[in-house]
Amino acid sequence: MANKDILVINSNGPLRGEVKIDGAKNSALPILAACVLGTEEIILDGVPELKDVEIMIEVLKHLGSKVEYIDENSLRIDSSNINTCETPYELMDKMRASFVVMGPLLARFSKAYTKAPGGCNIGARPIDLHLKGFNALGATSIVDYDQISIEAKDGLKGNEIYLDFPSVGATQNIIMAATLAEGETVIENAAKEPEIVDLASFLSKMGAKIKGAGTSTITIEGVEKLTGTRHTIIPDRIEAATYMLAAAMTGGEVKIVNAIGSHIRPVIAKLIEIGAEVEEVEEDDVIYVKADHRLKSTNIQTLPYPGFPTDVQAQFMALLTVSEGESRIQETVFENRFMHVEELSKMGAVIATSGNRATIAGVESLHGADVRATDLRAGAALVMAGLVAKGETRVSDIYHIDRGYSHLVEKLTELGADIKRVTIEA
Ligand code: EPZ
Repeated sequence: MANKDILVINSNGPLRGEVKIDGAKNSALPILAACVLGTEEIILDGVPELKDVEIMIEVLKHLGSKVEYIDENSLRIDSSNINTCETPYELMDKMRASFVVMGPLLARFSKAYTKAPGGCNIGARPIDLHLKGFNALGATSIVDYDQISIEAKDGLKGNEIYLDFPSVGATQNIIMAATLAEGETVIENAAKEPEIVDLASFLSKMGAKIKGAGTSTITIEGVEKLTGTRHTIIPDRIEAATYMLAAAMTGGEVKIVNAIGSHIRPVIAKLIEIGAEVEEVEEDDVIYVKADHRLKSTNIQTLPYPGFPTDVQAQFMALLTVSEGESRIQETVFENRFMHVEELSKMGAVIATSGNRATIAGVESLHGADVRATDLRAGAALVMAGLVAKGETRVSDIYHIDRGYSHLVEKLTELGADIKRVTIEA
């Protein structure tokens, strides 16, 4: 019989103490892909130890890049000898975010081949906007069943591109493709997430000419080649938000270190609205969260940045299941991001959904149950619920959680949680 790991959680009172946030998964992945554009040595610091980062490193190595760890959070990368333009199908299956190597491969070699990234639990995850951008730059994309071939016979040429939706991945892919294209590219209705800004600052240090990252209009002036650099990945705003909510939900008092308040303004605003105390020490990238009474209800609508982040929706829903009163959540970014509702309901949460809207009736307390992580952030939400539930909670399919949260058990244990990783017979 195969074995599998589960998390076993028992409530153990308020979280107290200090937690250090790692580098952002959703910045490390596109920046690792962008290393394909570099012809000289690149050093990345603040790289989080995550399964998804390991997969992206495997993709780079498959393409011919040399990647080695200097220490557990620093990498040395040399992509001067890329020798293929085809990304391994099995890795694309493992992680659809690998698709952001397409832009860099196109930029450098005018061709890129891969398997269409599948959808996942939270939605179909189409790539039409990525392909629209590549085509606008002069590439031809052929999707043959599940294979994608993208070629630009005459190389890439700058163009104006309007994104029907401010897609994070499409914005990243188009920026990277445009860095070596001939002439100027303008992306309208671009994504404005901090991870876009981090990618642009990394590319600029390599010699790219990019203006407007963080706004809806990004202009890229193509250059001949990109060199090497050293860059520190920005802190993971979603990990920070997750620990802030866990602190508030357990009625605790936690110091969040390596967290940038301006990257999660809506989450901080909502925490204060429901009665938590949040104090930012901007100059030190520190945020204090405290809540010593039951929190109140609120209404949330997820939106592209700078709106409330969809990646914090599940965690905030978990908190609202034990807040006082009725709350409403509308998920506008992904079409199927309520799979945590059924699992939270097994723990006694009272949640009704209709389409992309959920109504949560706060209950006095949850009870432990056997639940399943359905995606990365849903898994985090279930761990949070387990921290306050009466009785034991066992969370399975925690490989989802390993993709985006490094040292979760150690960090929560350090804050006083009773949480263990146990291997059981599957
Ligand atoms: C990134 O995914 C993040 N992943 C996601 O985080 C995050 O939820 C998402 O951005 C939104 O903030 C990484 O950065 C690796 P999108 P991405 O393209 O780029 C539609 C997590 O938990 N769309 O902005 O795939 C799409 O269907 C993960 O860390 C198109 O229609 O997100 C979705 O409804 C989950 N056509 C919406 O846009 C396209 O060509 C947002 O997708 C592309 C996207």
